[in-house]
Amino acid sequence: MRTKLVMGNWKMHGNLQTNEVLLARLLAGWGEGRAAGLAVCVPTPYLAQTQNLLRGSAIGWGAQNVSKHLSGAYTGEVSASMLLDFGCQYVLIGHSERRAIYGETDSVAAAKFSAALSAGLIPVLCVGETLVERESGVTEEVIARQLDAVLELAGTQGFGRAVVAYEPVWAIGTGKTASPEQAQAVHANIRQRLAEHDAHLAAKLQLLYGGSVKASNAAELFAMPDIDGALVGGASLVAEEFLAIGQAACA
Ligand code: PGA
Repeated sequence: MRTKLVMGNWKMHGNLQTNEVLLARLLAGWGEGRAAGLAVCVPTPYLAQTQNLLRGSAIGWGAQNVSKHLSGAYTGEVSASMLLDFGCQYVLIGHSERRAIYGETDSVAAAKFSAALSAGLIPVLCVGETLVERESGVTEEVIARQLDAVLELAGTQGFGRAVVAYEPVWAIGTGKTASPEQAQAVHANIRQRLAEHDAHLAAKLQLLYGGSVKASNAAELFAMPDIDGALVGGASLVAEEFLAIGQAACA
């Protein structure tokens, strides 16, 4: 039985004041003993604030990006061990915005995944197809390529301490969610692909869905057998919405 996980991706939103209010609301609404996990991936400058406010609570936290290098002359980069210094458990890897806007290739995402793992962080590998790719019938191929790059570098065992998030690019921030059946079909395919390498590991892997998840559509997504939670953008900035999604994951 896999525990569900609901993870917020704040993207480049927030400030010290609004973060404090949001995190206080999450703390008030999410105590120990929940059947699902709740976590937030915040902008890097707010990791210290997040650590101070969430330390010792039932809510986890992480970052949205990490350098593929461990240390050195890489101006502006942040290493996995630096994220660990601020108590991060998670780091998003290969989010579609990183891939599309910052040119992150599959091999860069794979290198970042490995850097995160070697520092002891849990990489949350984001995969997903664009609308053009879906309409051309290459969804499976695209996701296979994204997974294979990581499998080649980190090995199957790399997925033993990782999370995978399926985020169809056409559903991110658009209000268009994949139907539960569409998402389930891709999730089943991802699990099957990994099962070809290691069935036990694939059965344990947490597979999140992301793309316009809201309180109103979370329950039907979570009812699918291979959907183990959500990666939530916009709705994670509204405490009541995010908590309601977390609540739906506990059902
Ligand atoms: P969204 O974003 O929930 O706002 O669609 C999801 C994501 O980009 O992780």
